Amino acid sequence: MKHEELKLLEQKIKACELCRLHLSRKNAVPGEGSYGAQLMIIGEAPGEEEDKQGRPFVGRAGKVLDKMLERIGIKREEVFITNIVKCRPPENREPQDDEAKICMSNYLEKQISLISPMVILLLGNVAVRHILGVKSVSLVRGKLIEKDRRYYFATYHPAIVLYNPSKEEILASDFDLFANIYKKIKEKRFGLEQFF
Ligand code: URA
Repeated sequence: MKHEELKLLEQKIKACELCRLHLSRKNAVPGEGSYGAQLMIIGEAPGEEEDKQGRPFVGRAGKVLDKMLERIGIKREEVFITNIVKCRPPENREPQDDEAKICMSNYLEKQISLISPMVILLLGNVAVRHILGVKSVSLVRGKLIEKDRRYYFATYHPAIVLYNPSKEEILASDFDLFANIYKKIKEKRFGLEQFF
């Protein structure tokens, strides 16, 4: 049931013409991973390689994300990875507010409610602005936030490392902190805390 609804949503995303971003995209990128994921990862928007392949985080920023996930022992297949908007903005500009609003209300919000992840990891300013309503990731980075019966954790967008390689250490330490918190949340959820 949930599986069918998510598949249907993906077909709608691939054929979507609700905002101007469809005019310049090659492929919409619905997202990918487990429909039963306890963790959802939300980035900004597809880039060039994602637009080519129709898959999220498969370009250079995706390689950085893969490295971070590997570092904390999380496999891509066990999480669900997606973006605020599903189509690449021209020249990789930031998604505009109306584009984000249309895309989120039609797709991302439905993906969140169907997959119902316990924890959502937000990558970068655009994700925190549209999901948590704060201006900058630096205001919420590294903090566990509870909202609408889910946990949110934010860090920098992995692309930051491509512009500034010295930021890799900071990103890695945020992922380490996240891994600790995520482990504790899972233990609590599944009643394992009595063993510790
Ligand atoms: N950057 C994003 O925010 N999302 C992707 O899917 C790729 C790069």
